[in-house]
Amino acid sequence: MKTKTKRLGRKLVLPEVFVLCCLFFLAGFYASGLLSREAVNVRPKLRRLEMVEGEAESEKEHRPMAHGVTGESSIDSIPFQVLSWKPRALYFPGFATPDQCKAIIDQAKLQLKPSSLALREGETVESTKGTRTSSGTFISASEDKTGVLDFVERKIAKATMLPRSYGESFNILRYEIGQKYDSHYDAFNPAEYGPQSSQRLASFLLYLSDVEEGGETMFPFENESNIYSNYEFKRCMGLKVKPKLGDGLLFYSLLPNGTIDQTSLHGSCPVTKGEKWVATKWIRDQEYNEFL
Ligand SMILES: *[C@@H]1O[C@H](CO)[C@@H](O)[C@H](O)[C@H]1NC(C)=O
Ligand SMILES: *[C@@H]1O[C@H](CO)[C@@H](O)[C@H](O)[C@H]1NC(C)=O
Repeated sequence: MKTKTKRLGRKLVLPEVFVLCCLFFLAGFYASGLLSREAVNVRPKLRRLEMVEGEAESEKEHRPMAHGVTGESSIDSIPFQVLSWKPRALYFPGFATPDQCKAIIDQAKLQLKPSSLALREGETVESTKGTRTSSGTFISASEDKTGVLDFVERKIAKATMLPRSYGESFNILRYEIGQKYDSHYDAFNPAEYGPQSSQRLASFLLYLSDVEEGGETMFPFENESNIYSNYEFKRCMGLKVKPKLGDGLLFYSLLPNGTIDQTSLHGSCPVTKGEKWVATKWIRDQEYNEFL
């Protein structure tokens, strides 16, 4: 009996399933026709144009142009995010690899010294004690036998379109717990520092480590906020950029007309947990030779 009903059931079910399938197929066919007709009705020409252009673009996307004698034969992609226009600040995720960062730290570790300050007229080492408490060292790309700083320097030059010859040596810094750099300008105001033969135009910071807590690069005057108030130079406020291993931060200290951008004031918040390593490249407005 059981087998009989089963067989009977199958006989009845199979044609039903077949009919259902046909119905669904037809319904689907009809619906898709409706949908595409609708889409075509909305913007028929545009759609076709977009498709053709899209195809052509993606094909062309990585096809390099004929280049000049000082140009390059391939197309580069360096992702970035505009963090601010006042100051002009850009963030570059994944600018260097963790291995590259480690190679830079390993070299710097061997020659760390307490960081120094450029003194304003009337200031002394003693009077500015506590402003900048990190340790650091200068390493030029040519001194780095691993080639990592050479790679990073080339990439910075491309990202900024400021030639390598305009840059100072890398300043590799380590901030331990409690260490910081009070807000300051990278550019030297002649009114405070005396006449300058060249000026710092831009700064590129490559974060060589993550920091568990604190250690942000901060711009307290971002969008001109706090600028006319009595800003306390030790306070950590405004736009804060959290250091992340391998990421880069670029900002300009000079406006396009060459005057110092007041909003480029920045500092390093105290590290409260962990350790911060950063490689800084200061880029001048003229070719820079440290031995002149
Ligand atoms: C930026 O600053 C200007 C004036 O300094 C102000 O009018 C504007 O609202 C600010 N923008 C934001 C997003 O806070
Ligand atoms: C430079 O540009 C800034 C911003 O536009 C302006 O406030 C300043 O007066 C300019 N300085 C000179 C010397 O042109």
